[in-house]
Amino acid sequence: MPDTPNPSSPVIYRPRTLALYDTLVLGASCRWVWRCPAENLVEVYRDHLGPVHLDIGVGTGHLLDRATAAEPATPLTGLHLLDTYPGPLSTAAQRLSRHQPRTYRADARTPFPLAPASMDSVGSTFLLHCLPGRGITEKAVLFDNIAAVAVRGGAVFGATLLPHGPGVHATVQARALMDAYNRAGWLSNRGDTVGDLKRELHARFDQVQVRVVGCVALWTAVAR
Ligand SMILES: C[S@@+](CC[C@H](N)C(=O)[O-])C[C@H]1O[C@@H](n2cnc3c(N)ncnc32)[C@H](O)[C@@H]1O
Repeated sequence: MPDTPNPSSPVIYRPRTLALYDTLVLGASCRWVWRCPAENLVEVYRDHLGPVHLDIGVGTGHLLDRATAAEPATPLTGLHLLDTYPGPLSTAAQRLSRHQPRTYRADARTPFPLAPASMDSVGSTFLLHCLPGRGITEKAVLFDNIAAVAVRGGAVFGATLLPHGPGVHATVQARALMDAYNRAGWLSNRGDTVGDLKRELHARFDQVQVRVVGCVALWTAVAR
C-alpha cells in the first residue's frame, strides 16, 4: 500500500507506521506497558459482536480480525468501519475484506452517517483516549452518537487508557509513555477517570460493566 503523505493524518496513522501497530501497540505495549494483553480486548469483541457491527477508530482491524476468525465465529452480515483518517480505514478494510466492509471517513464526535437504530453492536477500542477534552464528560458525545445508531438491546463495548484513579495500575513506564503520547498529541487522556466513564455510560446505556486491567478500562453495555 502506498504511504501517501497526508498532512491531516498524524504519522502514527499512516500506512507505513500502521504496519508496526500490531506488534508495538497491541503486542508489546498492551502486554508489557499497559499491562492488559490484547487477548482481553479480543475476548470482549468475541463475546459481544452482533451480526451487523460498527467499529469506530479502526486502527489496523487487528482485534476484529482475530475475533471474527476465532471459532465459533460470529457470522457478520454487515460490517461498518468509521474513522477520521484514511490510513486506518483502508488498512482495516483490506484486512477485513472477507466481510465486505463499508467504510465511512468521519469524525466520531459528529453524528454518524448511518441509519438510526441500525447496528447490532458498536465497538470503539482505544479511541476515547485519543479524543480531545479535559475529561471523559467532554468527549461523551461519542456515546451519544453510538446510542443513536445502536439497536435497542444492541451491544456497546470499548476500551480506553486511564492515567490514574481507583483500580488503575499505571506503572512508572506506563505513566511516562502516556505522558509522552499526550505531549505528542496522540493521546488526550490526562483528565480521564473511571468515575466519569461509568457516569457517562450509565447516562445512556443499560447493564453497564466496566473493569480495569492494568491501566486499561474495558466496558460493555446494552443500548436502550
Ligand atoms: C489508538 S488507535 C485504535 C485502533 C483500534 N481500535 C485498536 O484498538 O487497535 C485510534 C484510532 O482512532 C482513530 N481516530 C482518532 N481520532 C478519531 C476521531 N476523532 N474520529 C474517528 N476516529 C478517530 C484513529 O485514526 C485510529 O484508527
